[in-house]
This record gives sequence, structure tokens and C-alpha cells, in this order.
Amino acid sequence: MKLFIDTADINEIREAAEMGVIDGVTTNPSLVSKTGKPFRQVIDEILKVVDGPISAEVVALDFAGMLAEGKDLAKIHKNIVVKVPLTVDGLKAARALSDEGIPVNQTLCFSPMQAMLSAKAGAAYISPFVGRLDDISQDGMELIRQIVQIYENYDFTTEVLVASVRNPIHLLESALIGADVATVPLKVIKQLTHHPLTDKGLDAFLADWEKVPK
Ligand code: G3P
Repeated sequence: MKLFIDTADINEIREAAEMGVIDGVTTNPSLVSKTGKPFRQVIDEILKVVDGPISAEVVALDFAGMLAEGKDLAKIHKNIVVKVPLTVDGLKAARALSDEGIPVNQTLCFSPMQAMLSAKAGAAYISPFVGRLDDISQDGMELIRQIVQIYENYDFTTEVLVASVRNPIHLLESALIGADVATVPLKVIKQLTHHPLTDKGLDAFLADWEKVPK
């Protein structure tokens, strides 16, 4: 499973990249806004740190606007993936951009049939938001199971990119289901490294090392 970091904060991206576990980056307008920096500056900084797919989201709501923004974003660098929302105009934009060879990440997916439409429209990635479904007492991971099954049934090549990941269990289940990618905040990546027996074992090794004659 590929691991993307879900942030626009360059310090967090650097920290995760130094761990050697990051395959790409996803941003969205809220994450960019949190940085307090201009969008283009944020993208340029990320491109210098990570050599992998970097999702940058359009903000237009109409097809023509999405297409124009998407083409401009794609011109920045070959690693840019254009993120478009899962609306009627977003599907049209996904088809038009994909036909021009520009990879699309279709975002704000909350149902398996939305995901099927994105695959038919040629999206490179579908982003189902598991945490936000959990927030309204629905089972976010069940959506991932359904999308993976549907894509397998019909050999769709769109990659399932699990988004709105809030905890290590979301990651474990994504890997067990066979999702292609998960995009994860730095906090969750760090949580994945922790195990009490690792800490206990390390303490014991260091204590025993002190007893070795010097
Ligand atoms: O990038 C989209 C997604 O991962 C957002 O997550 O935590 O705001 O629901 P969240």
C-alpha cells in the first residue's frame, strides 16, 4: 500500500519524508489555508521535498473553470495530480483532464456509486473520506470494502486512495482490504511507529548494555 501524507505543512512533509516512508502528498484548500502561504508557494515547496504524486485541488465549481485550473496546475510539474470534487462538473472535468493525460484525484467521495462514476470518468485516484463518514455514525471502512470490490469486479484501474484517515486502525483495515493508497496526517504516521513492547525492549537492551564491562 502506498502511503501519502495529508498536509500542506512543509515541515511535516519534510519530517515524514526523512522517515523514508512517503510516496506522495495530498493537499486540499483547508490544508493550504492553514499554512498562511500562497498556494503556488506551498506547491513549489512540496515539489522540492517529495518526488511522487502531489494532489493540488481546483476551487472552481463549473466545468470550464475546473478544466482551466486543472490545466494550469498540471503545467507546474509532471508530479501534480489535479484534485476535483465529485460533482457532475467534476466528473466532466475528470474525463476531459484524463483524456489529455493529466491525472485526476476525485475527492469528496462518500458512496460506492460515486466511486464507480469516477472510475468510468477516468480518474487516476478516488478519494473516499472514511473519517467524515465515521463522524456521522456511518462505517467509513465499509465504503472502502465496497469500492475495492466494485473496482475488482470490473477491472477498473482507478486507485483507491483512502482519505480522512484519523487513526492507525483505518490504516490497518485499508491494508487488509487491499486499498492502493492511504493518505495520512503526520500524527497518525507517528502513532504507527509506537508499540509499548518496542519501548520496553529498548530500555532493557540499554540497561543490560550498561552492565557490559567497558
Ligand atoms: O484530504 C482530504 C481528507 O483527507 C480530509 O480529512 O480529516 O479533514 O476529514 P479530514
